[in-house]
Amino acid sequence: MFFRQLATKEATLSYFFGCATYQVAVAIDPVLGDEDWFIEEARKQNVKITHVIDTHIHADHYSGGRALAKRCGGLYCLHENGVGRVKFDFESLRDGQRIDVGNVVVEVIHTPGHTPDSICLAVTDRRRGDAPWFVLTGDSMLVGAIGRPDLAGRERELAGELYDSLHRRILTLPAEIELYPGHTSGSACGAGISGKPVSTIGFEKRWNPMLSMERGAFVEALTKSIPPRPTEMDKMVAAHIAA
Ligand SMILES: [Fe+2]
Repeated sequence: MFFRQLATKEATLSYFFGCATYQVAVAIDPVLGDEDWFIEEARKQNVKITHVIDTHIHADHYSGGRALAKRCGGLYCLHENGVGRVKFDFESLRDGQRIDVGNVVVEVIHTPGHTPDSICLAVTDRRRGDAPWFVLTGDSMLVGAIGRPDLAGRERELAGELYDSLHRRILTLPAEIELYPGHTSGSACGAGISGKPVSTIGFEKRWNPMLSMERGAFVEALTKSIPPRPTEMDKMVAAHIAA
């Protein structure tokens, strides 16, 4: 498989990976204005982008997901939780769903908390092994930090859901799995994020201070440390769900 990570605006990380043998690829969390970069990478790899996935409805930057999907003819995908709320047709993803991308398999893990529709994507390269090699965690789990519960008014409830998502789903993955987050330091999506754009499940389990807390302490700490809301947050969310 090939794999690219793009460090872009608002300390956001986007991903582009796929299978050169079967000439197919997926784009994850593209930022508006970066569509050309994905198209150019696809051209270099000689692949077709079959799926464009947003790990959640973003509130800190404008997504380029729909624009890119339109340009490359791929399916624009969000978690099924967006059905009804999102005013346009999209490919809805459900927990446990597996997307075949040639020799690569992308498995959807629903991890509500940062937002109700947040997903993580566990990626397997069948040429290397039958189990996932890495996980894209969106804003659910960051390097050295945890994503903020993004919905004003429901912070405590969502922080509790995030604790459950982390401990029941993400941290049950094997320690050697690489973790690729949705942001690095400088993002408003979490407090205390590392500037390093990759970690492992095992390293975070050992050293991420948020992960050694009991549920109650976690909810307290996460809701106490919420960074200021991005100024255009409501406008951004509105743009992402509008027809
Ligand atoms: Fe986010």
